[in-house]
Amino acid sequence: MPDFLEISEVSPNELECILRNTAFIRNSANRTSDLLADKSVALIFEKPSTRTRLSFEVGVRQLGGTPIVLSSSEMQLGRGESIHDTAKVLSRFVDLIMIRTFADRTLRELAEFADIPVINGLTDKSHPCQIMGDIFTFQELRGNIAGRTVAWLGTGNNVCTSFLHAAGQMGFNLIFSGPGQFNPSEDAVAFAIGKGVSVDFEPDPIAAVATADLIVTDTWVSMHESVLEREKIWDTLMLYQVNTELMSHARPDALFMHCLPAHREEEVTSEVMDGPQSVVFDEAENRLHVQKSIMCWCLGLLPV
Ligand code: CP
Ligand code: NVA
Repeated sequence: MPDFLEISEVSPNELECILRNTAFIRNSANRTSDLLADKSVALIFEKPSTRTRLSFEVGVRQLGGTPIVLSSSEMQLGRGESIHDTAKVLSRFVDLIMIRTFADRTLRELAEFADIPVINGLTDKSHPCQIMGDIFTFQELRGNIAGRTVAWLGTGNNVCTSFLHAAGQMGFNLIFSGPGQFNPSEDAVAFAIGKGVSVDFEPDPIAAVATADLIVTDTWVSMHESVLEREKIWDTLMLYQVNTELMSHARPDALFMHCLPAHREEEVTSEVMDGPQSVVFDEAENRLHVQKSIMCWCLGLLPV
């Protein structure tokens, strides 16, 4: 049974299948089911979470399964038990593992030694479930994302990496606009370019948003990053703030996304967050639907 570790590691056909099933699962007639009846899902958190925790826990329940939320600090993992042994033990009790962790290595080791599927619920490197929800949100509102342009403003972080993976797999172009020292992962850029889409670096945020179908930003300081390092260039980062003035240079039908949590008046103003082009709360809701589809895919239980 497959893991869901990176968008770059799932074939475009399978990604499309997950998104098609998301639409089915979201339909009010299909929101609850017994697809996960008698199944238990471990949800492990090494970092804080609001959306990921709620959407997975509610999602498992809506599918008739049992979610078990575990904080790594409360597990023996937090006292030094190996990931290998943790993976083996969890595999005897539950049917699926979702983990939010720091190191990509932890995710990889868990997936390697678990006998059950593992889902990446965010690492320092990537956030694939978020971007599946974002792509679903875009396509519901604007149609196929293939051939479109996404402008990423700010710092090239874990969420940006998953956007680059999605660009390559789903055929859209990405423009990065931010301070050069916070460029996105070279590997993720190379992955996207290798799949034939364009990744442009545009230092002028106005030029970056002008042709975009979707404008995205995220916090300038992720959970694993140092505030001190970013504070030194705060004035430069402010040039990439998504505000009403910047949005006035975007197309009127361009959407605005942010995975949340947002730091209002830093990377984005409240006027934009709460404005007509913002779909940030649709994105949050769609985590629920897309992750139900991902869990079913991992277990070979997709309804359509
Ligand atoms: N977007 C997201 O993953 O939010 P949480 O950190 O609240 O889970
Ligand atoms: N880039 C952010 C995303 C939070 C959902 C972080 O890693 O903290």
